[in-house]
Amino acid sequence: MLKGIILAGGLGTRLYPLTKVTSKHLLPVGNEPMIYHSVKQLTTAGITDILIVTNPEYVGDFVNTLGGGRDFGCEFTYRVQEEAKGIAHALALAEGFAAGSRIVVLLGDNIFETSIRQAVNDFQAQQRGARVLLKQVSDPERYGVATLNGNRIVTIEEKPEHPKSDYAVVGVYFYDASVFDVIRTVEPSVRGEYEITAVNNVYIQRNELEYSFIHGKWVDAGTFDSLTEAHQILLDSADHQKL
Ligand code: DAU
Repeated sequence: MLKGIILAGGLGTRLYPLTKVTSKHLLPVGNEPMIYHSVKQLTTAGITDILIVTNPEYVGDFVNTLGGGRDFGCEFTYRVQEEAKGIAHALALAEGFAAGSRIVVLLGDNIFETSIRQAVNDFQAQQRGARVLLKQVSDPERYGVATLNGNRIVTIEEKPEHPKSDYAVVGVYFYDASVFDVIRTVEPSVRGEYEITAVNNVYIQRNELEYSFIHGKWVDAGTFDSLTEAHQILLDSADHQKL
């Protein structure tokens, strides 16, 4: 059974002062707090065992907003990331929760026009390894960027100054149970974070990283402009009604 993890820690400094007293992931997007979107993406894909990773300041706000999961038809577990040391660092906290299961990891600030259900099905059919989702973008330097060779990813670079392609790696990742061993081998990057891109590159070296493209609009709602765009996508999206 696949388990879900939503990473909702970090500082949200680019959205200050909106994030002065609460988490970016609790700001309104469409007609709901941002984190509802990630929760509904998981539950509509049939994933109902969900871990939320938050920072210590706002864990109470998350519990008050989401509760135990009854309203969403799922069960929430909460973990606190004491320091925002990167996405892979936040994910490491999920090892006990995962307890040997395969996992899908959502970055809590990623908003999608369409459901991730197909990708979940593709991963369930996959024998081993990990899976990432790609989207062609006009500003790849903001993201992890994949270089493709035929049907394989040959490398992923985190926020490259001179991107080799326009394929952004979006914030939905699928891993087998060995991901926690992989994270233990990762060193902090020059920006001082344990990067999820470093984890994905280990799977590439093992020849165990699959990918698929996502359809529809996608936004990383970490800036004012992208938050406005995310808001519009969810208000406009017919799919939103289904999520
Ligand atoms: O949005 C997709 C991009 O997300 C990928 O293309 C990049 O490869 C990936 O590194 C990431 O880039 P960002 O710089 O946009 O990540 P950010 O620091 O904004 O964090 C994304 C989410 O992860 C955010 O919603 C909160 C969570 N997070 C982040 C950090 C640094 C944590 O839970 N803990 C953390 O320590």
